[in-house]
Amino acid sequence: MPRPTAEELATDYPGAERFMPARRTLAVMREAVQGCRGCPLYRDATQAVFGEGPPQARLMLVGEVPGDEEDLQGRPFVGPAGKVLDQALAEAGIAREDAYLTNVVKHFKWEPSGKRRLHKKPNRWEVSACVPWLDAEIARVAPEVLVAMGATAAQALFGPEHRVSVQHGEPVPFDRVPYATSTLHPSAVLRRPTEEDRVAEYQRLVEDLRKVAAVLAG
Ligand code: URA
Ligand code: SF4
Repeated sequence: MPRPTAEELATDYPGAERFMPARRTLAVMREAVQGCRGCPLYRDATQAVFGEGPPQARLMLVGEVPGDEEDLQGRPFVGPAGKVLDQALAEAGIAREDAYLTNVVKHFKWEPSGKRRLHKKPNRWEVSACVPWLDAEIARVAPEVLVAMGATAAQALFGPEHRVSVQHGEPVPFDRVPYATSTLHPSAVLRRPTEEDRVAEYQRLVEDLRKVAAVLAG
């Protein structure tokens, strides 16, 4: 991961590692993450949102950062992007309950916009501060298939050269999981300006997830 800038270092946050428990089961980590002060994002969030799903899931899906609804409920992908993801998974023949869903960054990052809290993209220092939690989730769940959704997750896992727009749906060499790949982030579907674009983007997501389903089917 890139080194923090001088300004980022000046914030004096140590990263997640020192807040992580010795015993890294999902249950122990889910509790410990609530006490993480590894970067400043915990200050403005309601709670940390840890991954969720079967501890032995064969499939792990990784997003960017919890959104407003996720922050309030404490669960990943329960807001608008989650609805898109649910539908795409169902259409690809993957049961959401069989997958382990998580994010690269565990605390909601936002800025006020009137009365609403607008999602902000985590910067590279926040990503590298938080990624030890994700690394530990991958080690513990040990999925057969890992899917990074969107550029933040894909670059955190596969390196800064990864281009989701070019490489989505293709296998990526990754030493910790037998099969790794990327796809677009489900919220990218929602950000498209026209209905036609949204349908096309959604179809790309479904197509990539169908490939994942085929890999899981062997
Ligand atoms: N977007 C994400 O990246 N993750 C969530 O959990 C929700 C929205
Ligand atoms: Fe810790 Fe990650 Fe939350 Fe930052 S975003 S405080 S590193 S859990």
